[in-house]
Amino acid sequence: MELTLDSPLDMHLHLRDGDMLKLTAPLSSDFAGAVIMPNLVPPVTTPDMMLAYAERIRAALDGAAFTPYMSLFFTALDEKALQAAISTPGFFGFKLYPAGITTNSEGGVSNLAEAERTLKLMEEMGIPLLVHGESHGFVMDREQEFLSVYRHLATAYPKLRISMEHITTAAAVELLDEFPNLCATVTLQHLLITLDDVAGGMLQPHLFCKPIAKRPADREALLQAALNGHPRLMFGSDSAPHPRCKKEACGCAAGVFTAPVALPKLAELFTTHGAADKLQGFISGNACRLYGLKPASKQVTLCDTPMQVPARYRSYGQEVVPMYAGQTLPWSIKN
Ligand code: DOR
Ligand code: ZN
Repeated sequence: MELTLDSPLDMHLHLRDGDMLKLTAPLSSDFAGAVIMPNLVPPVTTPDMMLAYAERIRAALDGAAFTPYMSLFFTALDEKALQAAISTPGFFGFKLYPAGITTNSEGGVSNLAEAERTLKLMEEMGIPLLVHGESHGFVMDREQEFLSVYRHLATAYPKLRISMEHITTAAAVELLDEFPNLCATVTLQHLLITLDDVAGGMLQPHLFCKPIAKRPADREALLQAALNGHPRLMFGSDSAPHPRCKKEACGCAAGVFTAPVALPKLAELFTTHGAADKLQGFISGNACRLYGLKPASKQVTLCDTPMQVPARYRSYGQEVVPMYAGQTLPWSIKN
């Protein structure tokens, strides 16, 4: 059996920088493009930093046809600064992090009131807002507690395109249906695992991410929304590599490295549920329609020939462990 996808997009990807970027960028190059997250150290806050980062990404891709859709780390900006962002080639939108909520987000927003003027301008200027939607509450409740913020944003800025990044709960899926100006990304792991897989037995550091995987009913709601072709749900892997020593550590860094297995696992997931016809919209069509993207044409064929997932990827002095490390998956990318 084979499945051909047109211009698959990863709408939420961490590529990091330096040697880690050199290792990870080629592992996403079966995608036609991806929205690149800005949480480097220091975060990517200016058009110049963004241009330089995009150039380093291009160099790491070594000629592969892959469009980096660049995000800037949200800070309160005036109209002139927003105009400068829009006119920078490759700019996609702003990623808003609540201060300190996840990896390298210390410079994020601590008081939403200070962001409101910028958000109004973004609405007027048609700039997408991508949000890491978690409160600082109890870890299992963080996304749910943040839904009131999404509700406020969607109501106060009805023309602002707001993406709820990496949603993990049934409640977030429900909210999506309340406001037409909300859209969402969902990761591979949140379609597949629950908290039980992370911490129900021996602790699995390579499945630890933020937001943490939730309950079976949450996973089911996410999966059904994806398999039923929800028109405002997009694939965003949130593939977030960390060096093996930072994952297998006392104080494990948050992030699941899924880039190398994302397409084969999605092909398996959608075909086993009889929803192969819904994968194209999820992996590209919805994003293209919602954001007006026109990625360069790139066809990727998946087939039901098994894939042997490496135990780790090692190069440039870096070592990362992928999801399903050492396992055999039923689908693979046809070369
Ligand atoms: O698990 C995560 N890892 N969640 C995030 O929001 C950030 C990411 C990272 O950059 O490592
Ligand atoms: Zn992320």
